[in-house]
This record gives sequence, structure tokens and C-alpha cells, in this order.
Amino acid sequence: MGMEPNARKPGIMRYERQKGRGMPPLKQTTKPVIYFAPMEGITDGIFRRVHHELFGGADVYCLPFHKLTQSMSLLTREIRDISPEENEGMNVLPQALTRDPEQLSAWLYYVSECGYSCADLNLGCPSPTVTRRGRGSGMLRDPDELRFFLDRLFANTLPVSLSVKTRIGYESAEEWPGIAEILAGYPFAHVTIHVRTTREQYTGGIHPEAFELALQKRIPHPVYNGDLRTTEDVNNLLVRCPAAEAVMIGRGFLADPALGRRIRGGEAAGKDELRAWYTALYEGWKERFQGTIALGRIKKLMEWPCEGDIKKKRLLRRADTIESCIHAAIGE
Ligand SMILES: Cc1cc2nc3c(=O)[nH]c(=O)nc-3n(C[C@H](O)[C@H](O)[C@H](O)COP(=O)(O)O)c2cc1C
Repeated sequence: MGMEPNARKPGIMRYERQKGRGMPPLKQTTKPVIYFAPMEGITDGIFRRVHHELFGGADVYCLPFHKLTQSMSLLTREIRDISPEENEGMNVLPQALTRDPEQLSAWLYYVSECGYSCADLNLGCPSPTVTRRGRGSGMLRDPDELRFFLDRLFANTLPVSLSVKTRIGYESAEEWPGIAEILAGYPFAHVTIHVRTTREQYTGGIHPEAFELALQKRIPHPVYNGDLRTTEDVNNLLVRCPAAEAVMIGRGFLADPALGRRIRGGEAAGKDELRAWYTALYEGWKERFQGTIALGRIKKLMEWPCEGDIKKKRLLRRADTIESCIHAAIGE
């Protein structure tokens, strides 16, 4: 196969062309760089904007994946999510889920047209519906196929730089040295490593030594991901791996939206701030969807700050207004 640098499959025109202004490139001097993890169904444009305005502390917001298809078309919500209007004033990193280098290449042109300079490939999604089709972390199953895919992809000049988000194996962490060797051989802008295997999903023990191996193997700009919930977790990682340049945080941000700010030495979130946070999210989601969906999303999000607190969780389960949800989560 071979796509000319500017070649476009006819179907790509079905992507709605965007006339956005370019996102500023990431200029980062304060370490570590903090990536807000993509979380499908949670970290949409409304969430990102409200978080950026109220708390900040994340250097890059990662967009939940676009599931690429043979029809080369995107869902309306995916088109909105990547649009420059939805991401005004933020550094964002769009992400694709595909096992087809042509699809990915065409999508990268679209990303470039939207005004972005970097995009991410998902090699980490552990969902069986995704991996069964050989996508997401299903691509880690067969190292030869992964290499073949990357060879075809990088055979031509890409219109934007490419990063990748991976796990450390499919069945076992013993697969990681081989996968790391492969990833180290391609010019990725950065490589985010969720330090678990596909089998381990998102819970149970992590394998921080896999990140150390990534540093040793000279994987380009490794980004650590996995169970960073507190400033202490981040500090411990930096003590263990002083060469770590960047971290990606997901659930830690859901439980504590001020986590990024605190990592930078700032204040913890006050109750008024949290009230403003949940209220603004609810209002935003209510306007975009409808009241019951917005409340459902708020309740799902609040499960994180209520984690481990039986009383709060019980109150949250019973809550049926935004006020009663806020009362459950922050006690006011
Ligand atoms: C509800 C949910 C949705 C997710 N969606 C995506 C996604 O679209 N793309 C992706 O690369 N990772 C996705 N992830 C994985 C997170 O980005 C992150 O890697 C994971 O939560 C582990 O990081 P953490 O321990 O800091 O939470 C998702 C995770 C959750 C819990």
C-alpha cells in the first residue's frame, strides 16, 4: 500500500471540513507535563472547557477516541468534539481507534485541516468489543502485525506528528520488552504507557518497572499513566523515575478536579469551587443533552469523589436533583 503524502481517499470528503484556527503548539517548561486522560462519555468538550476555566492545571486535554470506519465518516458528536470551537484556548490531543493504516492516515489529514499538529493512536483500549476486532490493545497481541502496521503508516510523511497510547502487553507484562522495542523504533511524538496489561483492565496491581524500561529503551518521550490519584503519587513517581517528563491522569482528576493545580503547588479545591464545578457541568450538559441525561452524567462523575465513603454513596444514589447531588458529594 502507499498513500501519497497529499493523497486522499474519496471517502474522506465525507468528513465535514473544518475551518478552525490552529492550536498553539505545546511549549512546556514546568515538569512534569500533565495530560488529562481521555475518558469516553465523561471528558467531552463541555467537561474540558469548564475544567480548564475553573481549575486549569492540565497542560493537554486528550480527546476520547474517534472510532474510524471503512466509510471514512465520523459521528456528529465526534466532529463537534474535535472542532476548534469546542476546544478554544486549550491544547488538545485528538485520538483515533483503528487497525487500518490508510484510515489512520486519512484521518490525520483531517486532524491537520482542523488545525492541530499532533494526534494519538489508541493501542490501549481493553474493551473486548474493541480488542476482538484487533483494535485498541488488541493490536498488541501480534507484534509482527503491529510492526507491519507501523511500517505501512510511517512509509509516507504524515501531515501531523503522531503519538501513541499503549498498554504493556495483552496477556502478560512479559510481552512489554518486545512491544517497547517495536515502539522505540518509530518517530512518535510521545508514547503514553498505561502500566497494565489488557487482561488487567483498570484495576489491581500496576507495573511501574515497565515505565523504567521504557526510559531505558529510549522510547521517545514516555508519558506515565496509571493510578496517579494524589500529589504524593506523582512525587513518588518522580523520585522513582527522575527522568520522567510527563504524566497522564484520568480518574485522579475525576475525584479531585484541582489535582493538576495542586501538583503545581496550588490550592486544593474549596467547597464553593466544587459547587461551581458541578453546577457549571450540569448546566452545560443540560443545555446540550437534556436534564435527566445531565443528571445521570453528574451522578456518574460524582461516584469518584464519593469513592470509599458509604454515607456519601448512599446519599448520591438517592439524589434526584443537582442540589441533592452536590449535597451528597461535598456535604453542602
Ligand atoms: C470511562 C473511561 C473511558 C475511557 N476512554 C478512553 C479513551 O477514549 N481513550 C483512551 O485512550 N483511554 C480511555 N480510557 C483510559 C484512560 O484514559 C486512562 O488511561 C485510565 O483511566 C487509566 O488512568 P488513571 O489510572 O489515571 O485513571 C478510559 C477510561 C475510563 C475509565
